[in-house]
Amino acid sequence: MPVPIIIDCDPGHDDAIAILLAAGDPAVDLLAITTVAGNQVVEKTTLNARRICTAAAITDVPIAAGCARPLVGPRYVADDVHGESGMDGPRFGEPTVRAVPEHAVDLMRRILTGHPEPVTLIPTAPMTNIALLLTRYPEVAGHIREIVLMGGSTERGNRTPVAEFNVYADPEAADIVFRSGLPVTMCGLNVTHQALATPDVLARFEALGSELGGICAELMTYFASTYRRIWGFDAPPLHDPVAVARVIDPAIVRCAEASVAVELRGQYTRGATVVDLHRYLDRPVNAQVALSLDQEQFWDRIVTAVDTLGKRAVRTDRPWHAGP
Ligand code: RIB
Ligand code: CA
Repeated sequence: MPVPIIIDCDPGHDDAIAILLAAGDPAVDLLAITTVAGNQVVEKTTLNARRICTAAAITDVPIAAGCARPLVGPRYVADDVHGESGMDGPRFGEPTVRAVPEHAVDLMRRILTGHPEPVTLIPTAPMTNIALLLTRYPEVAGHIREIVLMGGSTERGNRTPVAEFNVYADPEAADIVFRSGLPVTMCGLNVTHQALATPDVLARFEALGSELGGICAELMTYFASTYRRIWGFDAPPLHDPVAVARVIDPAIVRCAEASVAVELRGQYTRGATVVDLHRYLDRPVNAQVALSLDQEQFWDRIVTAVDTLGKRAVRTDRPWHAGP
């Protein structure tokens, strides 16, 4: 039976691929997509979710916009990484997939309480919506199977020397999630930096011969340009699909249990995830922490999901590479 999931995201190049993996892989049942401010302002992340769903003909999954700013502190965007639109690179037409008028938190609550079995939440963005859901509607906790998030790191950061963007953009929200008492799995930079979209990976998407395959290749080409310019990466790490892959097949993402604390007050360390893999601190285990990725399985699942969706999506007049 497919695992019912909700993705809470900030598309975002890697969020877009995470949505395609979730919609195209039969191991999960994508019940809803909720958006939040993160890589760009929430108006843009919502538009980008509509764009990728239109391109992939994902027309039966409700999209709802959520919080426009973090619980506390300033709002950060990552336009240096994802561009002015939040998903620069491909040219998208006007999306036909619309968003529902509900707030993301209300949509999540409605779906969670109405679904016949507990649902897995997959946040791939600042966790503002999730924290607000758990705080505003504590009764939904019994309807949540687990939270499998992309965020944090067992090592260095990518927004400060020690803080990863999704946690740094709303540390209080991340703290609420890690303290929730729910089963939490953290897929941090230490594992997502093993998910590099190399030229061989891009060639696999191009070889699909579909418009959607071409869009994925263009997304990763743009993402590669910013990761090369900012961090000197030879290939961009596709962070967010790692969290989805963990739900699709836990064997793809090896984890170990640990206590994870979110630093809220450090002058130089706010937003850091302090992951105690060796039990130095006398703190209870509150998370599974992802450590390694089966890269072959990871990319096979993504390419297969995009191929499945690409064959279903209606071709438009976009000047893509000639397909079969
Ligand atoms: O640090 C990587 C995370 O920040 C990813 O989710 C990416 O989409 C950005 O949101
Ligand atoms: Ca993201």
